[in-house]
Parts: sequence; structure tokens; C-alpha cells
Amino acid sequence: MTASSTWQARPGTPLRGTIRVPGDKSISHRAMMLGALADGVTRVSGFLEGEDTLATAAAFRAMGVRIEDDGPGRKIVHGAGIDGLRAPAAPIDCGNAGTGMRLLAGLLAGQRFDSTLTGDASLTRRPMRRVTEPLARMGARIETAEGGRPPLRIFGGQSLAGVDHDLPVASAQVKSALLLAGLYAQGETTVREPHPTRDYTERMLAALGWPIEFSPGFARLSGGHRLTATDIAVPSDFSSAAFFLVAASLVPGSDLTLEGVGMNPRRTGLLDALRLMGAWIEVRNAREEGGEPVADLRVTHAPLHGAIIPEALVPDMIDEFPVLFVAAAAVSGVTTVSGAAELRVKESDRIAVMANGLRAMGARIDETPDGAVIHGGATLGGASVDAHDDHRIAMSFVVAGQIASAPVTLRGCATVATSFPGFFGLANRAGMGLAVA
Ligand code: S3P
Repeated sequence: MTASSTWQARPGTPLRGTIRVPGDKSISHRAMMLGALADGVTRVSGFLEGEDTLATAAAFRAMGVRIEDDGPGRKIVHGAGIDGLRAPAAPIDCGNAGTGMRLLAGLLAGQRFDSTLTGDASLTRRPMRRVTEPLARMGARIETAEGGRPPLRIFGGQSLAGVDHDLPVASAQVKSALLLAGLYAQGETTVREPHPTRDYTERMLAALGWPIEFSPGFARLSGGHRLTATDIAVPSDFSSAAFFLVAASLVPGSDLTLEGVGMNPRRTGLLDALRLMGAWIEVRNAREEGGEPVADLRVTHAPLHGAIIPEALVPDMIDEFPVLFVAAAAVSGVTTVSGAAELRVKESDRIAVMANGLRAMGARIDETPDGAVIHGGATLGGASVDAHDDHRIAMSFVVAGQIASAPVTLRGCATVATSFPGFFGLANRAGMGLAVA
């Protein structure tokens, strides 16, 4: 039962057994988008039935794409072809999804029709100039609300030209928005990144037959081709597995296996960080599924200690810092995070929200503009914490509750369903103590 948005987390039993977390959010968004633009029928399996990715599916339905539900995690997308989308009758609601909105901004900038992208309270606070400015350089016309925030009003019928763009900050969303606009642009679009980020858009474009050159930190394509439908198998989301990796590392007696987890190296920075902190995580049965590396991860409890998290790992674990903060607060020694200012413009200001919540539990944390110094070793007590409607904050404090000396009451957990439907039940089945407050 997850309808209530206030949860109570407290120590459960050791985490044991074998579980599978839902499909990857990043890949699910892209499968829906590219399937919709392809010629032919794309069968997607392992699709994340979370609110974020269902909002993307609804967006394409509103643009005339037929999408059939074919059982849990299975979608049949009847591609409309690269120029086959129709004007939506109403503004497109991206919900809580920054990825949905930013990628759609690029894709819609190249259409013949006008469109508007809007979202929930969290999304309408997030910065969009990072996409609208480079898209404007390509010839797109997009109006934002004050301060470059959503809603985005996108004027269709512009002729786009390719650009050569150096991203100031590593961002797969911005890179992907430009590449999607580049599908509709005259000439070449080139994107370079200061640090390589997840390359799902590039891989999937290639898999659907669009000519594209890419290597870590670099992508180039030109407009004027077509996409051919292909089946897409979405692996489990490493970012969802992360909560269980940390919880099992922290709770004595745990021995948990996570099956079929996506292991794209641009996503697995938390594994390196946890190993630096002394974690015992075994990568088993490494294989390739649907063009993506996948493995089963066996995690057993280990005596962790603090570590300096290398800045080079930041883009590869950008969504995992909230739960890393929990691990750092719980174990002995000091953990230093730097080079992660992007955390301040996620679904919430994840540095401030984590620091405040963990401090309320008794942890010692010094915030910095681009990270934090977390002095581990304090006994974590109970507290009442606001998750600020940020799914990853809520799940991170559920993990914190597993090692606290008194219950943690968590307000604002409803958004967990954006990325991890079924978290409540799965967390309980794995051994975590979690109830509706
Ligand atoms: C994502 C990219 C990352 C990540 C987000 C998903 C994507 O955002 O935080 O959860 O699917 O491209 P940025 O591009 O803003 O770093």
C-alpha cells in the first residue's frame, strides 16, 4: 500500500534473497521516443512503468502514435516515421521528468507544429536554458517562463541547422536534446562533453539504423535519414538497484542478489565509490542483453569507511549521491564529495536536502557549493524528514532508516512512483522495514 505519501522507515531484517528492480528510466524514455519516430513496430520489453516514462508515452499518444500495452513492462509502439507526429491538442505534461522534458524539447523543436511542454511543481522550477540556448543556436524558437523555467512554448516550422557544441557541464539530457534536434537539422550536429555521459541516445539511434559517430565524450550525426523499428529490451535500472546495494552493505547479515542490472559504464560509478569505501559487491554472470551490458550483482554486508570520491566518477553516479550520502554518514571516517554542483538542480537541491535530513538524524555534514564533507561515525537516530517530493531522496532516507536507532518518518514519498513503482513492496520483501505512516 503506497497511496499515502508519508512513510515510516525503521530497521528490518538483513536483506537477503534475489530480487529484480524495474526497467531503466533513461532507456525507457528513449525507447518510447525513438520507437515513435521509427518506421515499423517496436516491441519494448522491460519498459519502466513509472510516472516519468508513462508521461512520455502519453505525450506520443497525444501526438498520434499508437502505443499498445502488452502486459507488465511490454509496450508495442507503432512508429509514425520521422515526420509522422501530429500536433498535440493540448500542452504536453511531462510530470516530474526532466529527461522527458529536455529530450522532447529537442525533438519538438524540429517539428512542423507548435507545442507546449509543462510539468509538476518540481519540474517547473528546473533550469531549461541549458537546452533552449543551444537549440536556439540551431534555429529553434522556444519561449520559456521567467528565468528560463518551464513551461516551454516551442514554435514549429523552423528550419534547423546543425551545430558544433561544447557542453559547459556534462549532461546526457542536453546532449540528447541536441542530437534529437539534429535529426531534423540541415548538416552535421556535433556534441562534445567535458566528461563522457550516458550514451543511450547514441546507441539506440545506431541500433535503429541512423548513421551516427560516437565515442566517449563525443557524438556527431546529420539530419535527413530514417529510423527502422527494432525490438528493445530494457535492463533493470542501476540507479534503482543502488538503494539495495547501499542498504545491504550497511545492514549486518545481508546477502542480496540483484538480477539483470544495466551495467553501462556511464552509470556504474557508485560501484567504484562503494568499493573505495570497502563494499563487497560481486559482479556475476556479466552478459550483453539488447546491446547493453547487464549483470547480476551480489552484495554482502561489509564494514565500510569514508573515502574521497574522485570527481571523475561524478557523471557516472550523478543520481546516486543521495544514497551515497547515507552510506557516508553511517560509516566511520570522512567522505568528501566535490565537483557535483549539478546535484543542486535535480528534482530537489539534493545536497541541501540530504544534508538537512541527515543532520536531523544526528549526522555531521558540511555543505560546500559543489558537494559536501560528511563526517561519518555518528549514531543515526530517528527524525521526521521531508523528501521534498524527490523520489531519490525518499528512497535514500528509507535506506537511512534501516540503520537508525529510532524510526524515520518521511513526508513527500509519492514521487517514488516516478522512477520505482513497486519500491515499497520490494523493499519490504528484501527485508527493509518500511510502513505507511
Ligand atoms: C539522464 C541524465 C542525467 C540524470 C537523469 C537522467 C538521462 O541528467 O541525472 O536522471 O536520461 O539522460 P543530466 O543530463 O541533467 O545530468
